Amino acid sequence: MKIFIDTGNLKDVEGLVPLGIIDGITTNPSLLSKESGDPRDILKRICQLVQGPTSAEVVSTAADAMVREGRDLASIDKHIVVKVPFTRDGVKACKTLSSEGIKVNVTLCFSPTQALIAAKVGASYISPFVGRLDDISTSGMYLVREIVEIYDNYDYATEVLVASVRHPLHIVEAARMGADICTCPAKVIDAMFNHPLTDIGLQNFLKDWEKAHAAAASRP
Ligand code: E4P
Repeated sequence: MKIFIDTGNLKDVEGLVPLGIIDGITTNPSLLSKESGDPRDILKRICQLVQGPTSAEVVSTAADAMVREGRDLASIDKHIVVKVPFTRDGVKACKTLSSEGIKVNVTLCFSPTQALIAAKVGASYISPFVGRLDDISTSGMYLVREIVEIYDNYDYATEVLVASVRHPLHIVEAARMGADICTCPAKVIDAMFNHPLTDIGLQNFLKDWEKAHAAAASRP
């Protein structure tokens, strides 16, 4: 499964990319609004650092304007994926942009029918928002299971990009279900690394090694 960072923050990207596990980035208008600097420059820099798919979202709401904005975003870097919201206009814009060879991520997906429509108009990625569904007492991961099953039935090329991830268990479940990608905040990716038994085990190995070598060195 591919792992993307869900961020507009360059420090997150600079910190995690050297680990060698990051395949791409997703941004959204809220995330980029938290950062200082020109969003285009930030997106360009992220693309240079990641060298992988980087989602940049349109803020227009009419299909024609989304298409114009999408083309403009795509001109920033070859790695840009244009993100459009799942609306009727977003669906129309997705069809046009995809037919021009521009990759589109259809975002704000909350139902399997929305995912089916996005695949039919050639979306490269569909983003089900699992955390926001969990927030309203509906299983976000059940939606992922339904989308994976539907896409498998028809061999759609659209990749399932699990979004609105809140904790590592979302990642584990997504991987078990065969989702293509999980996009996660940096702190959730950090949490994937941690296990107290790893820390204790390493401490003990090093302590034992030091003890044995100190004992050998003090032998006459
Ligand atoms: C995905 O592309 C979105 O940027 C993101 O995952 C939204 O997550 P949130 O629900 O934590 O805002």
